[in-house]
Amino acid sequence: MATVTTKTGQVVDRMVLDSMLRRRLFYTPSFEIYGGVSGLYDYGPPGCAVLNNIVDLWRKHFVLEEDMLEVDCTMLTPHEILKTSGHVEKFADWMCKDPKTGEIFRADHLVEEVLETRLKGDKEARGQKVVVDEEKEAKKKKKSKEAKAVKLDDAVVKEYEEILAQIDNYDGPALEKIITKFDIRNPATDGNLLPPVAFNLMFQTSIGPSSNMPGYLRPETAQGQFLNFQKLLEFNQQSMPFASASIGKSFRNEISPRAGLLRVREFLMAEIEHYVDPESGKKHTRFEEIKDMELSLLPREVQLSGSTKTVSMTIGKAVETGMVDNETLGYFIARIQAFLLRLGVNPKKLRFRQHMANEMAHYAADCWDAELETSYGWIECVGCADRSAYDLTVHKNKTGAPLVVREPRAEPLKVEEWQIDLDKKKFGPRFKKDGKTVEAAIEALSQDFREKLALDLEKQGKIEVDVAGVGSGKVELDKDLIQIEKRTRVENVREYTPNVIEPSFGIGRILYSLMEHVYWSREGDEARGVLSFPPVIAPTKVLIVPLSSNPAFRPLSQHLMMKLRRMGVSNRVDDSSASIGKRYARNDELGTPFGITVDFQSVKDNTFTLRDRDSTKQVRASEDEIAQALKSLVDGEETWEDIRQRLPEFTGQEID
Ligand code: GLY
Repeated sequence: MATVTTKTGQVVDRMVLDSMLRRRLFYTPSFEIYGGVSGLYDYGPPGCAVLNNIVDLWRKHFVLEEDMLEVDCTMLTPHEILKTSGHVEKFADWMCKDPKTGEIFRADHLVEEVLETRLKGDKEARGQKVVVDEEKEAKKKKKSKEAKAVKLDDAVVKEYEEILAQIDNYDGPALEKIITKFDIRNPATDGNLLPPVAFNLMFQTSIGPSSNMPGYLRPETAQGQFLNFQKLLEFNQQSMPFASASIGKSFRNEISPRAGLLRVREFLMAEIEHYVDPESGKKHTRFEEIKDMELSLLPREVQLSGSTKTVSMTIGKAVETGMVDNETLGYFIARIQAFLLRLGVNPKKLRFRQHMANEMAHYAADCWDAELETSYGWIECVGCADRSAYDLTVHKNKTGAPLVVREPRAEPLKVEEWQIDLDKKKFGPRFKKDGKTVEAAIEALSQDFREKLALDLEKQGKIEVDVAGVGSGKVELDKDLIQIEKRTRVENVREYTPNVIEPSFGIGRILYSLMEHVYWSREGDEARGVLSFPPVIAPTKVLIVPLSSNPAFRPLSQHLMMKLRRMGVSNRVDDSSASIGKRYARNDELGTPFGITVDFQSVKDNTFTLRDRDSTKQVRASEDEIAQALKSLVDGEETWEDIRQRLPEFTGQEID
């Protein structure tokens, strides 16, 4: 049984939470009446509401707070762009096929599953207590030849543990070695597997009717932001540093998605591309504000040593000691933590894990993931990568577009350099159609090589230059055609390609992990779940419940409903005939944080009770006071404790 450990310390079967989330229509498998497609899900009304609330808070926490430039770019992306960005060649996972059954496995997940099963078998054989995932176990017992209590050599146990600690660090050939060395096979049939091959994760498509413009559904929103860099810099009046941001769907054709909402083929991302001058040491002007924030960090060296033990440290110290490379990266790591905590993430189930060298995406120079602990293990929910100047450089080189910053120098810079002059009049007739290629090859010569060529030209009156694709690949040039001289150039403008720090959020993953973190059940009743979303995130903020179907209550509930809606406080009236307790229980499962009861006293004096979901405590006050208290609770200006302090407690009716 896969279990969720709740914030109150209960251990609850994940199936209980999952069936509650489906029953309450937080989400549902897409195309279910046709049998569904793995990795594709639809969100229902409460799921959409929480998702929108997360996005809304994200916009306030990042885009508004940091004055970022938001863009909304197309998801359809021509082949050429993703070829240039490196995604066509490198955006892949490794998969193994069982040639007999045709089954396909994601190679790293298979190694992980088999080694974990063997380690469990070893513990059983040694008579040690094993925390068993019964659901997985039952499936394996039926199918797997691995699920046996077999004692392993101590050295093998150590080796397995070391492999598991750095499982994300292996590429295809390394995974193949592990599969061969430890005789890893199809767990269901014991059949041998073919060596891992790379599988590109992008969905291919074709743009327009003629099929001559191949393209992809974007795998990240980032590329659209990079391609608009020049216009955004102009919009920002050439001022650096600045950030762009985007929220939108991206697509990845996952090999065998089996982790519910955590591994999906279409997902909502929120990404920031923060552009910074590399010569600034990547300092951040607001670093001081967050430097004392304590974080749980898992650096790459620890993982490479075979351990997953985190260190607790302030971000100030982590940057000072070089564990986190620079202030800008550190600033965003801290801001990500602050955001996740505002959503209601359990701080004990949050860590920042640094990527190992082979694990990093092809564009990244460094990367820290915010991982949330769930019943599926630690899940990457936010990546914070230093993409250096990679993307802007490749797109600039490919298109010639000046994806650079040009800024006037305070002091002109004098540069001593070897400059080349070509006699263009003679150059054209001599090289004809190859003229441009030869010229480009000469322009690209390094300063050191230019110095050597200048000496050769002086001594021999001619030089030879390599020019790929022209004649024999070498071109001879004499003094008539070329001159090389050392001169001083005065630079009034500095031109550079900014580096990019990229916080990238998987909103659906955050939502699912958060639901595990805020879930618990009322004492003695496991089936009666509660989702303790903070008010700002909750799908609906208030449930209005008339005590009974007495017609005198209706005008009061309708009036309250409209009043609160006009104040921007979302609410629903439940005037069904179910008992008050049942109506509140239903809304506990929907995560509604507050309830208003309309009773006979309300008809007399226009006072109402306000109930807090988590404590089930109530206060009683006038309509205006209740409405104002709700507004301030929902806006995060006051907590329930503040309200309890200032409004009279109501103990007349126990509603739990
Ligand atoms: N842009 C970050 C990612 O694709 O994960």
